[in-house]
Formats: sequence, structure tokens, C-alpha cells
Amino acid sequence: MKKFTKVLALVLAVVFVVAAFAACGGKGDTIESGKLIMATNAAFPPYEFLGEDGKIVGIDAEIAQLIADELKLELVIEDIEFGSIITGVQSGKYDIGMAGMTVTPERLENVNFSTSYANGVQVVIVKEDFAIKSIDDLEGKMIGVQEGTTGHIYCADTPENGGYGEDNVTAYSKGADAVQALVAGKVDCVVIDREPAKEFVKANEGLTILATEFTNEDYAIAVSKDNPELLEKINAALAKLEEEGKIDEIVNKYIPVNE
Ligand code: ARG
Repeated sequence: MKKFTKVLALVLAVVFVVAAFAACGGKGDTIESGKLIMATNAAFPPYEFLGEDGKIVGIDAEIAQLIADELKLELVIEDIEFGSIITGVQSGKYDIGMAGMTVTPERLENVNFSTSYANGVQVVIVKEDFAIKSIDDLEGKMIGVQEGTTGHIYCADTPENGGYGEDNVTAYSKGADAVQALVAGKVDCVVIDREPAKEFVKANEGLTILATEFTNEDYAIAVSKDNPELLEKINAALAKLEEEGKIDEIVNKYIPVNE
């Protein structure tokens, strides 16, 4: 009998520990911790960049703040490598990934995406006096990109798939580094999203954006597939903010219409 009691106590203890772990991991965690942890890569103006006081600001940071307010959660933003965002969200290290991130079929295999809150296009930055006048001139040139971005993926693809092949692409950890490589003549052009491209061209002399646009993309918020509840709440918050005109307000603040 004594032995039986001991075994029972042990079984109960195990069940208790497992239950406790289950309660604080996964789904309910975001709400229980009271925090909404967002992973971003803050080198992508005007979506996310470091403000004067070193704080992360930009369109995504402001929209995320409004979403967190709607969900009554405290927003915490973590600045990480762009290429680590999806895996971090997938593993539950971060609740959301928001980084001017394009919805792609490959990413959808690993995470869920919210409804789209903005559009993006890939453009080509070149030196004003350089021989590249259209995307037809890109062949055989060295293209700078930000590691793991859609610009990287498209350009590194094989020519049969519309790319230029890996050998013609140099990937940098930040878009700004790719642009510096262009300025220094290490690459012939940079393929990157249009709004950051405009900021980089503004900040550096002698650069221009080719008139041809590469692709049309939807930006959305990545959420773990294990957290459909959070995805639903984010979509509801986005719909409300959109309806109230708050999203447009933020976008227009960073991207003046006449630019
Ligand atoms: N839209 C592109 C993509 O999803 C680039 C995003 C880069 N974002 C960033 N915060 N660095 O691949």
C-alpha cells in the first residue's frame, strides 16, 4: 500500500509539472506574460530604424504599438538579423515578426501571416553615372542584397527562374551595408524594397533608382502556427485600426504621398 501511495504521488507530481509547463509555454503565453514580443531588423527605414535616442521607430514599430494597445499587452521590440526572424517566431522565442516582411509561399510553410498592412516592390539602386539603365542590363553584373530577403531570393535564383544566379549576388547583413558596397564600387547595383531604397538614395550622393520595378509584394506580420488565437486577435486589431484610418495615418507620416 505504501509503495502504491508513493507511485501515485510520483505520478501526480509528474502530471503537475507537465501541466505547469504546458500552461506557461505555447498559446497562452503571450497573454499571460502581458507582453507582445516582436522580432524585427531595425535597419530598414522607414519601416524600422533606430531613432535619435537609439529607440526603434518606424511604420512597423508604430503599428505594432497600436496592436499591442488593442491587445492590452506591453510591446517589446527585439532587433535581430533579418534571416533569424522566421525561425525565432516559429520556435516561440518571439510572438510576432514584423519587419517589412513579404509574404512568400516558402515562409508560409513555416509561419502564419496576418492580413497584409502594406505593399512593397523591389527596386534596383545604381550609381547615377553607371551603365545599368534597366533591369535588362543586370546580367553578369554583381548585385548587392540584404541576406535572406526576397530581393536576395529572386536575384540568386537561376536564370531559368528569372534570377541572375548565386555567383552574381553578394549578400550583406544589412541593406545599408549593401548600399555602402555600391558606393565603394564593390557591387554594381543593389536590389531592395522601394521605401528603404528611397531613404538610402537620399542619404548617399550619386545614387538613383531605376524606373523598372521588380515585383509586387505584400507585407504582413508573422505569427507562429502554434498560436492561431494570437493571429486572430492581430487580424481583428489590424481591421479595426485600418477602419479608423490609423494605419494610413502612420504610413503617410513616414511616406509623404507626394514623394
Ligand atoms: N520585404 C523584404 C522581405 O521580406 C525585405 C524585408 C527586410 N526587412 C528588414 N527589416 N530588414 O524579404
